Amino acid sequence: MTGNEIRQRFLDFFSARGHRVRPSWSLVPANDPTLLFTNAGMNQFKEVFLGLEKRDYKRAATSQKCVRAGGKHNDLENVGYTRRHHTFFEMLGNFSFGDYFKAEAIEFAWDLITKEWALPTDRLYVTIFREDDDAERLWQKVAGVPKERIFRLDEADNFWQMGETGPCGPCSEIHYDLGPEAADPGRANEPFPSDAGGRFVEIWNLVFMQYDRDASGKLTPLPRPSIDTGMGLERVAAVLQGKLSNYDTDLILPIIHRAAELFGGAVYGMDPKLDTALRIAADHGRATAFLIHDGVLPSNEGRGYVLRKIMRRALRHAHMVGVEDPFLYQLAGFVAEVMRPGYPELRESVQRVARVVKEEEHRYATTFLIAEKVFNEEVKTLADSVLPGAVAFKLYDTYGLALDEQEDMARERGLAIDRAGFEREMNEQRRRARASWKRAEKGVIAPAYQTLLEKGRTHFVGYDLLETHARVIGLLVDQQLVDRIEPGARAELVLDETPFYAETGGQVGDQGRSTRSTAKIWLMSSPRTRLSRDSRSIASRRMRPSK
Ligand code: ALA
Repeated sequence: MTGNEIRQRFLDFFSARGHRVRPSWSLVPANDPTLLFTNAGMNQFKEVFLGLEKRDYKRAATSQKCVRAGGKHNDLENVGYTRRHHTFFEMLGNFSFGDYFKAEAIEFAWDLITKEWALPTDRLYVTIFREDDDAERLWQKVAGVPKERIFRLDEADNFWQMGETGPCGPCSEIHYDLGPEAADPGRANEPFPSDAGGRFVEIWNLVFMQYDRDASGKLTPLPRPSIDTGMGLERVAAVLQGKLSNYDTDLILPIIHRAAELFGGAVYGMDPKLDTALRIAADHGRATAFLIHDGVLPSNEGRGYVLRKIMRRALRHAHMVGVEDPFLYQLAGFVAEVMRPGYPELRESVQRVARVVKEEEHRYATTFLIAEKVFNEEVKTLADSVLPGAVAFKLYDTYGLALDEQEDMARERGLAIDRAGFEREMNEQRRRARASWKRAEKGVIAPAYQTLLEKGRTHFVGYDLLETHARVIGLLVDQQLVDRIEPGARAELVLDETPFYAETGGQVGDQGRSTRSTAKIWLMSSPRTRLSRDSRSIASRRMRPSK
């Protein structure tokens, strides 16, 4: 069965059993500030579980697009290194809103995987919540699972909740034994419930929704016990297609191969570092295509920041294996092709997605790579394996390298970051900012600038021009107005017009040259400046102070 067929057969199975098949919800959860991204099939039914919303059906089935990056369920840093982690994945689920409960949920699940899909029962294991005697009894009675294949685990494994608050309950998972060849070296004899490093894979989680957790952690029983299940499509595809890795299924492998082409004709499966970069490209390419399709744009906060992080992670790993040219925008377009059977609507946004991704790739090439170079230079001078907080802070403050990006980069080089030192620098910076803000409030600004301000303002032309003629309005040395500057002195020129972006809004100022031509000063931004300003002008237009 292809991945697309598995999705369809799951939905058909539940449709035939009285479930309303509903479309996937957007990855941007409507009206739910507790969630960064849709991270489970049940998100779109949260209010129904809580009894706050009524639907004209009591059973539903979906294939839900999910992103787990940032927020409670965060898999980002593992992606690429494991066979099973993803930022973007699809969750197949059946739901009962106060209709059937444990017995039927168990029966449906068992029928689908052992009868419809014919998975051998001697490869299946079941886990239940520590105290759930009922579930243990039902697995034996309804599904005929022998007691020795049922394992009791505690909250960490068998109590599911969507986030810090919201509907939750004990759960029961079905695991599949991929065989000793799937275990990590030396772990093939570890019995279930160890995962033996990938031998035993959870394929389906049945949640017995019973409570609503509030912000204080208190559990209140739901009006009617309900069912929420989640089966990772990529995982079950791996099992049904006889693959050890989700990345080898027909849902993802074609995207890896396309990425390999875009990497300049690379071959998957030859070199571990390249393979990691290709898996990351494929996974992050999927997340990128779907997130932008659903209206998320790369930015410096919230959802946009997570998207930016995902995209940059893909670009960084590609860069590490020598990929210089933009590729992600094309890969995102290919994702739309592969996913067409399940998500035909992706085709509509192909152009828009490509535009957004290409712009981000350009931005990355102009700013992030400079920051990365500085990071690498700093790393070379380290005496031990810890990057000092002050250095991490400089990279953050001056070069815009987020701490988690630095941590990711550090990990790849076997280094750690002095987080406490970083926090100290950050606090110190805040203190300085407060102090200077107070001074500014008191109007403590050198009188020379005030005098110059009365003569007129500097007109900024840098969004359109990199070079311009300008007239000198004032010369300053040590914040004092002067008539001439001695050779070799450090001085400030104040001009009537400038292409130089000034340091503001957390951005570093431009660099360049000024030359005298007759009575005028000729100003030119250096190529390096041109790059950094180009990339910045998009952000700075928005952030430009109104004064
Ligand atoms: N909501 C459950 C999960 O995400 C099914 O695992």
